[in-house]
Amino acid sequence: MKVCIIGTGYVGLVTGVCFSDLGNNVICVDNNKTKINDLSAGKIPIYEPGLDELVKKNCRSGRLKFSTDLSKTVKNSNIIFICVGTPNKKNSYSADLNQIFSVVRNIVKNLNKFKVIITKSTVPVSTGDKIEKLISQRKNKKLFSVVSNPEFLREGEAIRDFMFPDRIIVGTDSSRANTILKNLYDPLIKRGGKYLRTSRRSAELIKYASNAFLATKITYINEISNLCEKVGVNVEDVSIGMGLDQRIGSRFLRAGPGYGGSCFPKDTRALLNTAKKYKTSLSIISSTIRSNDKRHTILFDKVKRILKGKISKKKITFLGVTFKPNTDDMRESPALKLIPKLHKLGANIHYFDPSGIKSEFKKLKNVNFENKISLACKKTDLIILHTEWNEFRNLNFKKIVNKKNFSVYDLRNIYSLKKMKDNKISYFRI
Ligand SMILES: NC(=O)c1ccc[n+]([C@@H]2O[C@H](COP(=O)([O-])OP(=O)(O)OC[C@H]3O[C@@H](n4cnc5c(N)ncnc54)[C@H](O)[C@@H]3O)[C@@H](O)[C@H]2O)c1
Repeated sequence: MKVCIIGTGYVGLVTGVCFSDLGNNVICVDNNKTKINDLSAGKIPIYEPGLDELVKKNCRSGRLKFSTDLSKTVKNSNIIFICVGTPNKKNSYSADLNQIFSVVRNIVKNLNKFKVIITKSTVPVSTGDKIEKLISQRKNKKLFSVVSNPEFLREGEAIRDFMFPDRIIVGTDSSRANTILKNLYDPLIKRGGKYLRTSRRSAELIKYASNAFLATKITYINEISNLCEKVGVNVEDVSIGMGLDQRIGSRFLRAGPGYGGSCFPKDTRALLNTAKKYKTSLSIISSTIRSNDKRHTILFDKVKRILKGKISKKKITFLGVTFKPNTDDMRESPALKLIPKLHKLGANIHYFDPSGIKSEFKKLKNVNFENKISLACKKTDLIILHTEWNEFRNLNFKKIVNKKNFSVYDLRNIYSLKKMKDNKISYFRI
């Protein structure tokens, strides 16, 4: 199969690499020349465990190539995956589909033989219909089929998620396109991935409904944790107790700083926007968004209480700033709200993140990246464990801080209450 992947970001790159590893000839296209030059030279633009090795292996085999030439690649392929970004429009909840339609217009020009055109990007329900309409205004319907095949991988575990998916959702009413996709995914189906064929609109909505559900689950336990704090209950006991019920399940039921990342915030908003368009109330999702947007104020108030109202000139250390471990993705990370707020009040912020320095904080004078955990923590007043990278799980805080009075605020509840108490460390958590 000749596969073309358009958009070589987190989803496109992982999809392209994995399909090539499964024996297909894949060309990944992007309009970002630097990215394509780097990839062609074996330099991986994102942090994703295992990706580096897999890219190199498949480039060596000749099955994986990178290009900026969309026209040529489209002409030579029979399967085209669209994996470009679908962020929210500026100051709006609706999905910005400019990247999608710019790519589609380019595909139309190069439609020389039958191609399956697949949106793997997360797109609002009925986007496939609009793509189909646009193409059919210029080309014979026999030349193409538009399919929705949303992606469910998680950054940080993307390769495993892609190679061993819970489900593969394919939205199409075309038997021809369905057969092609079923063949492409056959190795993953044989490994136990459930292949579900639906209507194109259903597939589009399954993705949004899934993300909004998971965002709601996280927000639910976060709100329960607010109550736990008031009534002296350990939220960890509550989430473990709840999660043991198989109807509920333990995943995405851990209290923390609120959901972030490149998907949940934008997708919950876009789903709400779709509901508004169709005059339907999604009040649960609306509450989820409101609650999550407010979460940083609760954490901020707690920081103020820990530091007894004195934030100015205090050294505050952030361990981890990405929205979750094993990724360098900063999009909508809770740290992007917390750090500027503390910085504004005069705190000296020092942060360490295993994925490196972040351009998002470049303009903030007193926000400094340290390349060692010990440097970030040295003589600090408060350590905020923001992201649960494994590197942070077994730290000797007394030794690395090397100062009498300091506190630890654990936003992921990874440390042992007992150990912290035994070590007489002023320890706070969710
Ligand atoms: N990141 C995730 O964990 C994840 C998971 C599931 C689904 N998704 C969805 O997948 C889509 C892509 O997400 P992402 O995180 O990979 O985005 P990304 O921003 O990392 O990558 C998008 C890529 O598309 C490229 N691009 C934009 N316009 C282009 C054009 N006209 N021609 C060629 N390349 C172009 C950009 O340069 C960029 O490299 C989104 O719809 C997202 O919601 C993301």
